[in-house]
Amino acid sequence: MNKGTFVVLASGRGSNFQAIIDRVSDGYINAVCTSLITDNPDAYAILRAKDAGIPAEVVSYRTFPDKNMYENALLATLARYNPDLVVLAGYMRLLGERIVDLYKGKMMNIHPSLLPAFQGLHAQRQALMYGTKVAGCTVHFVTHDMDAGPVIMQRTVQVLDDDDEESLSERILIEEHQVFPEAIKLFFEKKLLIKGRRVFLLPRT
Ligand code: GAR
Repeated sequence: MNKGTFVVLASGRGSNFQAIIDRVSDGYINAVCTSLITDNPDAYAILRAKDAGIPAEVVSYRTFPDKNMYENALLATLARYNPDLVVLAGYMRLLGERIVDLYKGKMMNIHPSLLPAFQGLHAQRQALMYGTKVAGCTVHFVTHDMDAGPVIMQRTVQVLDDDDEESLSERILIEEHQVFPEAIKLFFEKKLLIKGRRVFLLPRT
């Protein structure tokens, strides 16, 4: 049987992308990453893709006159790969409804907070400013509203008294690198069942 395929969208450093493709290489995720797509021609993730022999597609946001034209190009790129799953790994743009609808139940994002707390940018800084004692990360399916889709998995991290944004972000990132590959693995094993807002983990068969 042919393996399932996914593409990763990333805007910058791409450490989550690296963690995911490493888990494809070691056989943990039984699927093929067919492309890295980025909106940022300077993204470090492009080098990671080249190192791994994965095609990197640059759909540079700033070369398009508006968001609609950008998304047309992004849709065309996605269509060429026709992935079973789209993985948003540090992709820092809000996708329009057309794309989200097309990949309903087939697009995942990771966010560095325990959603629904601290949506949007600088989630780790928001947690520190609020003063929570626990922080973490969330993998969720993407819906129209930002950082608001059905939660697949979450991991918690203790906030330490001497944490700053950098130290907290680093510890959350360690969890991100574990939980995101796990969610993708389960998706390709067809173990994730979405019922309304809840995602259930189906038992082993
Ligand atoms: C990660 O911490 C990810 O959770 C966050 O950006 C970072 C990307 O790092 N994503 C968001 O904040 C999305 N709202 P990476 O490029 O090294 O994977």
